[in-house]
Amino acid sequence: MKVLIALFVVVFVDVVASQCICNSMKWAKCDGSPCQCTLQFTDEIQQPLDCTKLVPMCYLMKAEMYRAKKNLSTRSIGGKPVETAFVDNDGIYDPECENDGKFKAVQCNNTDVCWCVNSAGVRRSDKGDKSIKCEPVETYWVRLELKHKATDVPLDADKLKTGIQNALLQRYKLDKEFVKTVEYDKDGRIIVVDVKKKMEDRVTDLSLMAYYLEKDVKVLPLFHDDKQKFEVSVAGGNVTMENILVYYVDEKAPTFTMQKLTGGIIAVIVVVSLIVLAGLLVLFFIARRQKAQYSKAQAREMETMS
Ligand SMILES: *[C@@H]1O[C@H](CO)[C@@H](O)[C@H](O)[C@H]1NC(C)=O
Ligand SMILES: *[C@@H]1O[C@H](CO)[C@@H](O)[C@H](O)[C@H]1NC(C)=O
Ligand SMILES: *[C@@H]1O[C@H](CO)[C@@H](O)[C@H](O)[C@H]1NC(C)=O
Repeated sequence: MKVLIALFVVVFVDVVASQCICNSMKWAKCDGSPCQCTLQFTDEIQQPLDCTKLVPMCYLMKAEMYRAKKNLSTRSIGGKPVETAFVDNDGIYDPECENDGKFKAVQCNNTDVCWCVNSAGVRRSDKGDKSIKCEPVETYWVRLELKHKATDVPLDADKLKTGIQNALLQRYKLDKEFVKTVEYDKDGRIIVVDVKKKMEDRVTDLSLMAYYLEKDVKVLPLFHDDKQKFEVSVAGGNVTMENILVYYVDEKAPTFTMQKLTGGIIAVIVVVSLIVLAGLLVLFFIARRQKAQYSKAQAREMETMS
């Protein structure tokens, strides 16, 4: 009996403690009894909040700026899983395949411009010429960022993982053990699925599932029965997806250089140079005009003197 009461107390305390949340602001930190929630503005300043109301917009913007500065996502979930993750910005090309169907490490799309790809066929280097050297690199982790269509009833976040595991197994024969984590943001309707294998695993090919799933969500299913959509069933209801973003994480970091940044810096240099040049021209003309006026005045003085 004592044990039961103790258990009851523990559970009760737990429930009460878990009630200390800020309904109107998910980034708020809440603590103590009575429950007090604060929002981080700077490393030192925490703004107390009234979570029964919407948070003033000025506070929200301050918090958002702070989070951006700290590289904290302004969304609660998703984004790059690690700094070295990357997405496919190039789209489709005409690949060279190995005899077993794997991607060759160098791809040129039938041109003289070549680049290195990972085992998922996604570019992981800058573009170069035909002499580019590439080694085979395995993608061991893909993060699927899915946005689901609106549902009548809210999704049960706890049942989502099982639903996703079942769907990926049934449709793409992906073993459940590879689906490591499933996170859910119900406001954004975002489901973040991390699919990961052991680094030394050379049997499982995660890119297959990612490719089929991307087509399923964005275009049309590749299966013969293409009426059958990718669906996740969660607690009696079915959810379909409206968008997907795939992040790839390779065993070795990709070798992209900061080409975009360099482009940006060049643009800045050009603009600054133009502004400086314009300024110099203006100064030059002002000086010339002043000189002209000065000599005119001098000429007039000379006239009056003579
Ligand atoms: C945030 O990320 C950028 C590049 O992604 C990096 O240069 C910067 O140092 C990071 N800042 C912090 C505070 O981690
Ligand atoms: C490959 O070439 C085709 C046409 O030649 C082009 O449409 C496509 O964008 C190219 N893909 C890449 C990734 O360069
Ligand atoms: C969900 O989809 C499955 C087949 O994919 C179907 O059998 C089931 O009836 C659907 N459930 C609902 C509630 O639509």
